[in-house]
Formats: sequence, structure tokens, C-alpha cells
Amino acid sequence: MTATDRVRAADWLDRLWARGRRFLGTERAIMGGAMTWVSERNLVAALSNGGGFGVIACGSMNPAQLDAEIAATQALTTKPFGVNLITLHPELLDLVDVCTRRRVSHVVLAGALPPAPAVARVKQSGAKLLCFAPALSIAKKLVRMGADAIVIEGMEAGGHIGPVATSVLAQEILPHVSEVPVFVAGGIGHGAAIASYLEMGASGVQLGTRFVCAHESIAHPKFKRAFIRAAARDAVPSMQLDPRFPVIPVRALANDGTRAFMEKQRDVVERFTKGALSQKDAQLEIEHFWVGALRRAVIDGDIETGSLMAGQSVGMVTREQSTKDILDELMAQAIDALLTRTGATRERDAEGERAAALRSRAEA
Ligand SMILES: Cc1cc2nc3c(=O)[nH]c(=O)nc-3n(C[C@H](O)[C@H](O)[C@H](O)COP(=O)(O)O)c2cc1C
Repeated sequence: MTATDRVRAADWLDRLWARGRRFLGTERAIMGGAMTWVSERNLVAALSNGGGFGVIACGSMNPAQLDAEIAATQALTTKPFGVNLITLHPELLDLVDVCTRRRVSHVVLAGALPPAPAVARVKQSGAKLLCFAPALSIAKKLVRMGADAIVIEGMEAGGHIGPVATSVLAQEILPHVSEVPVFVAGGIGHGAAIASYLEMGASGVQLGTRFVCAHESIAHPKFKRAFIRAAARDAVPSMQLDPRFPVIPVRALANDGTRAFMEKQRDVVERFTKGALSQKDAQLEIEHFWVGALRRAVIDGDIETGSLMAGQSVGMVTREQSTKDILDELMAQAIDALLTRTGATRERDAEGERAAALRSRAEA
């Protein structure tokens, strides 16, 4: 491979994610997916300052807390960043208003299908709206509703997940949504995967797990160590014991907490069967099991019983690095992947030319 090949591959990457870069206003179309408790001012600013795009995870913050977090992030970066709001938040519209007052350029509405008033409020503010689509029909609907970009996130991801793999969603959705940029998330830990999804038609990517062990991430050292030690197979979805009591699957590292959750479900179902508990109370007891568990793990370092939300790409997290290093590494890997193809194309072209020359000589 020559230096010219590398320049050509870098140009190719530039062209592949140009739409995503324009949409985000960044050098690189790599979004740092919002992670509750992890994606706060420090990591978000580091991502944006590093040429990527940070997203604040609002989680269960109230409007005053979100306001303070946005202001603190703005004090650390002049680059664009987004705010991720959970659609089920009881103060969703007030949170959108906070983003508007703070002139946040991009709002991500995550969770269930966003309610029309929230969509309207974001659109009125002039901010760009990003929504998650777990299926092609929903992606189309979200575009009709006014989403300015779509994120498709597969079940390899950390946190709350759907049932379909990223690779399948990419094949099903990317060829059919051209109206708005589409970002691919879930299971991406290496730049080669970024290059592949871009070549399939994505405008950019979103990664969460890969950034947890960034120096700038405030995650507890024990939380980070658990990530560095873990392999892909350790990041498993939470299990539902009884079809009568739905559990929204969450991908996390297996620990005593995940085992205790099965025990909890067994105990609740038994008490419900004996008539000691109503169905509603039983469901609530199951849902309350994980309340506060992510904070306990991320902030307090309780890696035994807390929730260690992590995607399968956790196996590719091998050490603590600066956010900028991670972004640089991902970009270099993406260029290397494209370079291999550029080189292969060049060799194939040369081979073709040699074959054609031999043919014409034989015909002469
Ligand atoms: C610890 C953790 C917390 C997360 N919290 C949220 C959240 O609050 N809101 C959200 O939309 N996604 C959340 N996610 C998903 C990420 O934003 C991102 O889409 C996902 O991590 C991408 O997949 P990956 O983990 O394979 O990189 C979380 C993921 C992790 C690992």
C-alpha cells in the first residue's frame, strides 16, 4: 500500500460519512450514545472536543438538574453536542424547554415512540430531532412525524434493547431510508465495523460501551475494571421468567444482581400464584428491582449487585484511554479497513489490465 492509497482511503471515509458530519456539525460522524450516569458533562465535552459528538443522558434528571448539566457542558466545549431525553419522563415537555432555552442543537428522544407534542416542541425550537427506530415501518413513521435523523440500534448494544441484531436492522432499514441520515448503533467496537456500516449506507454510527472506560468518563474504577475484564459473552440480556410478567430486556454484565433478579421473579410469581399478591403489585415489584441499580454500579462502584449495563462490544474494551485516543483509533481502523479494500481494488484493476493485455496480444 502506498501513501497515496492511505490518502485515498481517508478521502473515501470523508465522503462516506459526509452527510452524518454535516448533520452533527462534527469532524467525525461518531456519536457517543447517551449512557445514564456516564454521559455527563466530562465525557460529553471530551467526545465533542475530540471531533465526535457527545450526548448528555438526561435519565431521570429534573429540569433544573438538566439545565445545570447543559450549562456545565457548554462551559467545557464550544462544539455541538446533543441531549437524550427518555420519552416516558413525566416532565418531558419541560425538559425540551430547557434544551430550547440553552440552545441545544440536537435532541434525541429515546424510549417508546415519541409523543406528538414533544416532537412538535423540539421542531419549534429549531433543534434537530433524532429518534430510535427498531423496525423499518417505525423509521418511516418517524420520518413522517418530523425526525431529522434516525438511530437504528441492535440487540448487541448495552442498556435497553430490542430483539433484532444490528446487522439485520442495517440490511432491512439502510437501503430504504434516504430522506434523513441514519446512524447505526449496537455492537460496534472497531473502526472496521464503522466502515462497513457506512458502506452499507449509514451516515454515521453511535457507540456507548466503547467510551465507558475513557479517562474522562466518571464511571467508578470498579465499573471500568469490570468492563476491561469482561468478554463479549459476559454481556447478557436480562431474562423474563414468566410470560405474565414482562421484563424489558436490558443487556448488562452478569453478576450477583442478575442472579438475584431471577430469584426475585421466582419469589414474586410464587406469591402471585398463591394469591398473596395482585398481578399489578407483582409486576411493580419486578419493575422496582433495578431502580437505582445503575447509579449504584456506575457511581458507587457496587459491581456485585448494581446494574453493569454493557454491550457485547465490551470484549473490545481492553484498557483505559483518553476519549480522543479512542476516537483516533476508531478512525484509523476505519481507514485501514477501507485501505485494504482500496489496495485490493488496485490489485484487482491491475490484474484485470494484465489479463486484458494478454487477451489482446493473443487475439493479435
Ligand atoms: C451503561 C449504559 C447506559 C445507557 N443508557 C442509555 C440511556 O440512558 N438512554 C439511551 O437512549 N441509551 C442508553 N444506552 C445505550 C447507548 O446510548 C448506546 O446506544 C449503546 O451503548 C450503543 O451500543 P454499544 O453499547 O454496543 O456501543 C446505554 C448504554 C450503556 C452501556
